[in-house]
Amino acid sequence: MIPRPPPFAEPVYVARPLLPSLEQYSQRLAAVWESGWLTNGGAQHRALEQELSAYLGCPHLSLFNNGTIALIVACQALRLRGEVITTPFTFPATPHVLQWNGITPVFADVDPDTMTIDPAAIEPLVNGQTSAILGVHVYGTPCEVDAIDAIAQKSALKVVYDGAHAFGATISGKPIGAFGDATMFSFHATKLFHTAEGGALAVRDAQLKERVDLLKNFGILDENRVALPGINGKMSELSAAMGIEVLRIVERERSERARVAAIYAKRLGAHEGIVAMRPPEKVRDSLQYFVVRVDARSLGSTRDALHDRLRDFNIVTRKYFQPLCSEYDCYKHLPSAQPSRLPVATRIAREVLCLPFYGSLGDDDVHRICDAIDFCVSRPARAGPGAPK
Ligand SMILES: Cc1ncc(COP(=O)(O)O)c(C=O)c1O
Repeated sequence: MIPRPPPFAEPVYVARPLLPSLEQYSQRLAAVWESGWLTNGGAQHRALEQELSAYLGCPHLSLFNNGTIALIVACQALRLRGEVITTPFTFPATPHVLQWNGITPVFADVDPDTMTIDPAAIEPLVNGQTSAILGVHVYGTPCEVDAIDAIAQKSALKVVYDGAHAFGATISGKPIGAFGDATMFSFHATKLFHTAEGGALAVRDAQLKERVDLLKNFGILDENRVALPGINGKMSELSAAMGIEVLRIVERERSERARVAAIYAKRLGAHEGIVAMRPPEKVRDSLQYFVVRVDARSLGSTRDALHDRLRDFNIVTRKYFQPLCSEYDCYKHLPSAQPSRLPVATRIAREVLCLPFYGSLGDDDVHRICDAIDFCVSRPARAGPGAPK
């Protein structure tokens, strides 16, 4: 019989922002104060844009105030319209940016292994209204970029990737931002690399970057001319300064997360019904999430039961991405949103669970989380802590 482990004294959340030394951030802020320049492409912004272009291997990269606006601008820059084929297994922002551009999202089912949009499901949805494919490198697992590219070429479609989770991922050594016409990165505080709020758009060439840069600054060409109906997508100097300091410690955070992932993989491998998602061969892991899939039949416990019971131990897991976007009130009326057309996404949304994952989790913390999981799955639900004795 597995003894009941003690709960954590404080909640252990699924993510914790990577914080640079306050002293170093303050020094950088002192330079910002000195400059008297808080936004509109200041020195911090220019430096971060350059450093990130090099780090991510994306020569045509623009910084943004968040990833959602970056994706909205990508749609504008590429002149998308009509319908765009996308995945239901993602964060709300993905289909919302289409709606904000007056575009109808068309949901395609996902691949059962990678959980990214299934190229075989895309093809039958292409019609005269389709202008693009919007894939999501969900959890940092790359979409099937070659197959998507082939479909896009055949039907003259644009390809945009939501790479919110894919910072630093590569496929056979090629940077993730080098695929498609544009790739968005999110730098929200919960991301491996962050600027508190922020994002970036990597695009295929210098001309497109010029258009993106115009669009993110109200379309202003110069003092006398406004060329386009742009928006305010600019990253502030305070965020850019944070980004520069976070970039200095991101590799260290990556190795800490790899340590955490190795413990989880070893410990959870003992359960037949819990399968840890690992990056496919030839893919460099973005180390954004640690995701498991719960097979309720072989585990004897559902994903929901495990999620709920871990709360009793102050362990906060997340069911990203349930509900599916196709189940939201604003999209469920769409023909492509019907569950019968999305059987794989519907099934996996019930299986996935994101575990606490950040570098400052000590070995002992990870073992305690695994002990709690062992305990939860070893007994029927009503024997959990807090249940009547
Ligand atoms: C898949 C995905 N797309 C888009 C976004 C939105 O990014 P942001 O919060 O930077 O606007 C997120 C946010 O976490 C996300 O997970």
